[in-house]
Amino acid sequence: MSLEMGDYARTIAAFDNGEPDRRRPPQKKKSSGKYVGIPVAPGATKIITADARKIPLPDASVDLIITSPPYWKKRDYGYPEQIGLEKTPQEFVANIQAALTEWRRILKPAGSVFLNMGDTYHNKSLAGIPGRIEAAACDDGWKLRNRIIWAKENGMPEPSKTRLANRHEYILHLTPTQNYYYDIVGYSEKYGNGANPGDVWNVNLKRDMSKHLAPFPEELVERAITLACPSEVCPVCGHLRSRIYQRTAELDESRPQGRRAMELAREKGLTAAHIAAIQATGISDAGKALRVQTGTGKNTVDVKRLAAEAKKALGGYFREFTFAKKRTIGWTSCECKVDFRPAVVLDPFCGTGTTLRVASAMGRVAIGVDLASFSHTDE
Ligand SMILES: C[S@@+](CC[C@H](N)C(=O)[O-])C[C@H]1O[C@@H](n2cnc3c(N)ncnc32)[C@H](O)[C@@H]1O
Repeated sequence: MSLEMGDYARTIAAFDNGEPDRRRPPQKKKSSGKYVGIPVAPGATKIITADARKIPLPDASVDLIITSPPYWKKRDYGYPEQIGLEKTPQEFVANIQAALTEWRRILKPAGSVFLNMGDTYHNKSLAGIPGRIEAAACDDGWKLRNRIIWAKENGMPEPSKTRLANRHEYILHLTPTQNYYYDIVGYSEKYGNGANPGDVWNVNLKRDMSKHLAPFPEELVERAITLACPSEVCPVCGHLRSRIYQRTAELDESRPQGRRAMELAREKGLTAAHIAAIQATGISDAGKALRVQTGTGKNTVDVKRLAAEAKKALGGYFREFTFAKKRTIGWTSCECKVDFRPAVVLDPFCGTGTTLRVASAMGRVAIGVDLASFSHTDE
């Protein structure tokens, strides 16, 4: 099968070093051929037998891609077009890069890719596959938003006595633009970790029905959907329904610092206006309150005074209130007056369909692509 690999000329990546970013912007591949229709009912699933590098879906039709491609040199799936058995890491990465280029075509501009990737020992050395994919994706104009570490305590036993057992993989969060859908508030509500959830996911492997360790835990998919997939979209204007929230004065009391800050606020008799003033001024005294009306119902002078009182009472603990819990008060809408549709999740290496099962249970439309044709529910 001949696949267009596109032009992968590398440019020198300019990261956060103050230099202008000269990486080339995302290039879209021209689409061709006939497309498969996308179902619209919440929870509907569809399986397409195809190559992950040539997917018969229209441009900008998918909200989120979550996938676990074959890792390099791990397994023979028995298909001539399969990815994973390339002779060199470079060839493997070029194939993943070709898949990413195709996915950028079918992703909406506010979409995301969550790519689960592990490394491979080759000639007694790690091949550095995740890092190579990161570099290639960045060179191609993708934003690498997170390198999430999936840490697992109960990985497979490994025989080597001269190195540590591998207990983590990566989940790369890539976006084609910097304006992507993201719901950190919904994620924090569901998974805790306060307002600043971290990039290490401790998710253990579970035994599946056949008593084998299931390779791709459902929780990974759930987390990615919660973070980066709207629940509904407008089929006319494309509006992605997003959470509207308010900051509260409540802290996460499972954290000792949060608990102490709440105790101090109570002991010192701080009012809601004090907390709102801290939040309006932020960490620096020269915060927003110096320049703007703050939405606290007070003028900037009062807000400054209240914030100063509160900071004196709380000492260093005042910072805790700048990342207090948020409360959801609604969802955005548009003017189109048509029914919203569920967002679309795609797994281009869907295998036995973990992503599809989770996305469907979460009310999204789930599409799976694989060279193999598994027997999934197909509406
Ligand atoms: C690691 S498995 C995916 C496991 C999956 N997450 C699950 O829940 O079962 C990788 C899958 O990629 C498929 N595959 C390999 N090369 C492919 C290609 N070029 N295009 C599409 N699928 C491919 C294999 O058939 C296999 O099902």
